[in-house]
Amino acid sequence: MSNKSLAMGDRLYAYLQSVSVREPEILTELRDETAKQPMAGMQISPEQGQLMALLVQLMGATKTLEVGVFTGYSSLVVALALPPHGKIIACDVSEDYTAIARRYWQKAGVADKIDLRIAPALETLDRLLADGQANTFDFAFIDADKSSYDDYYERALQLVRVGGLIAIDNVLWSGAVADPLITNNSTEKIRALNQKLHQDDRISLSLIPIADGLTLALKRP
Ligand SMILES: C[S@@+](CC[C@H](N)C(=O)[O-])C[C@H]1O[C@@H](n2cnc3c(N)ncnc32)[C@H](O)[C@@H]1O
Repeated sequence: MSNKSLAMGDRLYAYLQSVSVREPEILTELRDETAKQPMAGMQISPEQGQLMALLVQLMGATKTLEVGVFTGYSSLVVALALPPHGKIIACDVSEDYTAIARRYWQKAGVADKIDLRIAPALETLDRLLADGQANTFDFAFIDADKSSYDDYYERALQLVRVGGLIAIDNVLWSGAVADPLITNNSTEKIRALNQKLHQDDRISLSLIPIADGLTLALKRP
């Protein structure tokens, strides 16, 4: 017995997946296709996707935001969890990656739920704020360039409603955040955001040690 999170070796991870992951066939297909991409490691894990789907269902979310689409796994898992009238505004800069995403959204029958905005995400988020969409989103997932994580968080905090949830990916950054000798830009940005969130009384906070670390920030009144 331990009061710490378990270190996850390959055998235990395989067991966890075998008794937990219920991945729909379309998501498995997308994972298989993405595995051929050189940057396949950017995709979220199936158990993280399943957690996000559960959170979206738990909240009764209907309007969500995604920053960082890649080949579309996280947006597809959320879209499948949303009710028929649910919507995602999805931000990315890559036409190439998101062409794969669009194909799978079509195939899964959820393309009409996803409004893909190809532009630097900060521009899209600022446009949403300028359009009066503050306090209207139920859920936001941040998973793009780490250098802008704090800016994405601050925008997302304005865009979600009170009681809305922001999920921030890669907050453990393969463990680099806990190694003071690692001082590259991405690591420093994530480390600074983690420290800021720890003190941030605008949110309730939990850092989940799933995959590469997922912070959950619930917007307080
Ligand atoms: C880690 S991947 C996202 C993975 C995705 N959530 C999934 O589940 O597969 C990061 C994505 O952020 C995108 N990106 C990088 N810089 C960006 C920016 N400034 N604005 C919007 N998207 C950006 C990249 O093109 C890439 O597709």
